[in-house]
Amino acid sequence: MTTWNVRVNGREVSVEAPPMARVLDVLRESLGLTGSKEGCGEGECGSCTVLLDGRPTCACLVPIFQVEGRELCTVEGVAGTELDPLQRVMIEAGGVQCGACTPGIVVSLRALLDRDPRPTRAAVRESIAGNLCRCTGYERILRAVEELVGSEEADA
Ligand code: FES
Ligand code: FES
Repeated sequence: MTTWNVRVNGREVSVEAPPMARVLDVLRESLGLTGSKEGCGEGECGSCTVLLDGRPTCACLVPIFQVEGRELCTVEGVAGTELDPLQRVMIEAGGVQCGACTPGIVVSLRALLDRDPRPTRAAVRESIAGNLCRCTGYERILRAVEELVGSEEADA
């Protein structure tokens, strides 16, 4: 076991784990951050997506030693103490059904919206190209983002 120091959702944490422990397991089992989900465990489904230094990353593929001294943001970090507006519109638009994919999609979309507050539909699609959803057909997720962007424009 080695102690690793990582910034998680804005807080410095020290966690003990073998060097090759997957970030997904450390988050879920050692840190109690169970929002990130395991679908495939092979980098194919995106349900484990977290931000590593701001970039969407499959937590099932990254060993803990690679994130020493770096910054992770999980869906819990996106949400904070209240739902992120993106989460609210996804619920309202029916963009959440079984929800297995939802944490990863929220993380990927939040990363997009933070760098591009007015993304095109194509950019939204591209940002979640690595996030598989078996339930929604994606249309409602796309509509949710359009609604959010529209409401932000209306508020501006
Ligand atoms: S669980 Fe990581 S990509 Fe599927
Ligand atoms: S809502 Fe079921 S997989 Fe996306």
